[in-house]
Parts: sequence; structure tokens; C-alpha cells
Amino acid sequence: MLIHYLGHAAFYLESGDYRALIDPFITGNPACQVSLDRFDSLTHIFVTHAHGDHLGDTVAIAKETGATIVTNFELANYLVMQQEGLSVHPMHLGGRTTLDGVTIKMTPALHGSGIITNEGHIYCGGSPCGFLIEHQGKKIYHAGDTGLTKDMELLEIEDIDLAMLPIGGNFTMDITDAVRATQFIKPKAVVPMHYNTFPPIQADPHVFAEASPCPVHVMAIDETLTLS
Ligand code: NI
Ligand code: MN
Repeated sequence: MLIHYLGHAAFYLESGDYRALIDPFITGNPACQVSLDRFDSLTHIFVTHAHGDHLGDTVAIAKETGATIVTNFELANYLVMQQEGLSVHPMHLGGRTTLDGVTIKMTPALHGSGIITNEGHIYCGGSPCGFLIEHQGKKIYHAGDTGLTKDMELLEIEDIDLAMLPIGGNFTMDITDAVRATQFIKPKAVVPMHYNTFPPIQADPHVFAEASPCPVHVMAIDETLTLS
């Protein structure tokens, strides 16, 4: 499995024929320099919640590529109502399924998921989540935006190869709580995310790396990591 960091909470995954984006906030992301047409053969787009820095370019990319959007039930339905013809796969918290050979579990996140429109309306965007994604013997966990929860202890039994955890504070866990999360989850390795994109989420990933009980990969934007 290959993991490519696009900045903030956005990642590209490739494993066999499986090509997925998670939280593709690319346009307007001050931390991401890649062009949208780079993703021309996607199979899936995972969206952890409706906030703009996660939903990002999901609709535009899904329209262009035909990729299936995997997200919570309410947001999946909202997206289909907004844009006819999108392929969506709704799930909900705690649900596990196998989709095109990939095992996916939707995990809880302690956060919001409101859809805030340019016209000033706020719609219910369902429950925020994280994802466990398993393919060809490798399992990753993308926590989404979340505070520290005791539920994370349950993730230890999942035997996670790589966990992507937010460390930026203010809207999510900060470094102190992300270290506690790694103590709960006990993944084989961690990638910090959701920091330094905007002023309220400044954090030094190397401070996190020093304090974490498990190995930390501080990924540069546009860097690729291979799980083997
Ligand atoms: Ni958020
Ligand atoms: Mn966010």
C-alpha cells in the first residue's frame, strides 16, 4: 500500500487496482500544491465530515473520475441531491463492509459535520467519522477531525499498521492528546496531520514525534510512504 500526503488531512492511497483519496481538500488548501487533474483513475473518495477543509474538491473529482464517495448516510444523500449522477456509498458509525475487495470500517470522531453554504444556510451533515481501511494485509486508520476519546482504546485490537492522527489542536486533538491517542491505539506507526495549515492549528510535528510511544513519520507535502 502506498500513501501519498497532500497536506492538511488529505491523502492519496494506492493498493493494487485501488486508488483512493481521503478528505481531498486541494483547491484553496494553502498547504497543497498539486493539480486536480492528477487524479484521473480514482476508485474511491473517503470523506470524514462535511467541513470544507475535508469535503474539499470531492464533488468535482467524483464527477470527473466517477469515483465512489464513501461517507456518512446524511452527507452521502446530501451530495447526491446536490449533484445528480454521483456514485456514493453511505455508511454509518461502527459499520464495517467490504467494498470492491477493500474492508472499510467507519469509526466515531468527536467533532461536528455541519454543511455551511455560501448562502448562509447550515444543514445537518451527519456524524463525523474516521476510517479503517484494509487491503492486501495492510490496515490504515485515518482519524478524521477528532478530540481524544476513550473509544480509541478499542482500536488497539484492530492491529493498525499506520494511523493518521490530527495534532493541531483548537478543532482537534493537540500534541498532548495525540500522544495519548497513540498510547490507546498502539499502531505500528503514526503520521501527524491537520496542523500548520491555518494559524489556529500551529503545532510542531517533531515535538509529537519525540513524545510518541510509537514510530512517527512526519510526511512532507507530496511525499510518499510505502507500507510493505
Ligand atoms: Ni472539521
Ligand atoms: Mn478540519
